[in-house]
Amino acid sequence: RRPRVFVARRIFPEVVAQLREHFDVSTHDTDEPLSRDELIARLQGCDGVFVAGTEPIDATLLAACPTLRAVCSMAVGYNNIDVPAATARGVVVSNAPGVLTETTADFGFALMMATARRITEAEQYLRAGHWKQWSVDGMAGADIHGSTLGILGMGRIGQAIARRGVHGFGMSLVYHNRSRLPAEDEAALGARYLDLPGLLKAADHLVIVVPYGPTSHHLIGAAELALMKPSATLINVARGGVVDDAALAQALAERRIAGAGLDVFEGEPAVHPGLLEVPNVVLTPHIASASLPTRLAMCQLAASNLRAALTGQAPPTALNPEVLPLR
Ligand code: GLV
Ligand code: GLV
Repeated sequence: RRPRVFVARRIFPEVVAQLREHFDVSTHDTDEPLSRDELIARLQGCDGVFVAGTEPIDATLLAACPTLRAVCSMAVGYNNIDVPAATARGVVVSNAPGVLTETTADFGFALMMATARRITEAEQYLRAGHWKQWSVDGMAGADIHGSTLGILGMGRIGQAIARRGVHGFGMSLVYHNRSRLPAEDEAALGARYLDLPGLLKAADHLVIVVPYGPTSHHLIGAAELALMKPSATLINVARGGVVDDAALAQALAERRIAGAGLDVFEGEPAVHPGLLEVPNVVLTPHIASASLPTRLAMCQLAASNLRAALTGQAPPTALNPEVLPLR
């Protein structure tokens, strides 16, 4: 029989059509996320599942879906998937790195610029009819060009943001990462490696691009925010939970840092009420990878992974390729 695949999110119809050429496909066609129990029910008898960064693929689900052989996500972050549990069951897991790097870096840079130059705050002021006269420091913000860009997490996306800052805007670059870049990459960017406290103290604009997991939970909390310059901005395009949102809301309210730009939140789509109350924050609904061409490319990469995984080939971006020879 043809392998059975479940598409757990509404995705582009042309990608579903491609999948139907190879598989018996059933779909969940709304943007309403399925609960774990609903997912388990829909996955009975399925060989593969197409997910985004939101479906909870944990040990309980995997145990309840014994026919599942492949979990393919269109997201790059995979903190919603218990990869070791999947590996233990011989289930191949893939994410979608690479295809969203430049688009996500564009957005991180846009969020940084909007935050530093107070673009959304200024627009709200104008729309509210408050613009009555010119003022010497009205909506005055911080400069991007010539300032110090701090990157926390120097993966593909972090490096793409760094290139924009250094080559496009003449920024100085400091960074922290689990491992240092090769010396020639550091030299090409003029990058200075610092420990986390050093990074927090040095950055004019801190951009967070680390994956979420137990070691990055609340990596930035009250103590870390206290190390930042009062004039600094913090940008998070990684995952909610890397930043302690309650501590951040308080630091913003007390102007202990100048501003923040946030695309991701703890417990999203809920947003900490303290963040909604302060003016010096730019808030977006987890859209850093959301250009149409990139979202399509992410779906197509997940579909390619599914095709390979269920036809005995190596999925291009498997996270646990070691399970494949076992099957
Ligand atoms: C988006 O957050 C992703 O991980 O792709
Ligand atoms: C994701 O692609 C990253 O490594 O930053």
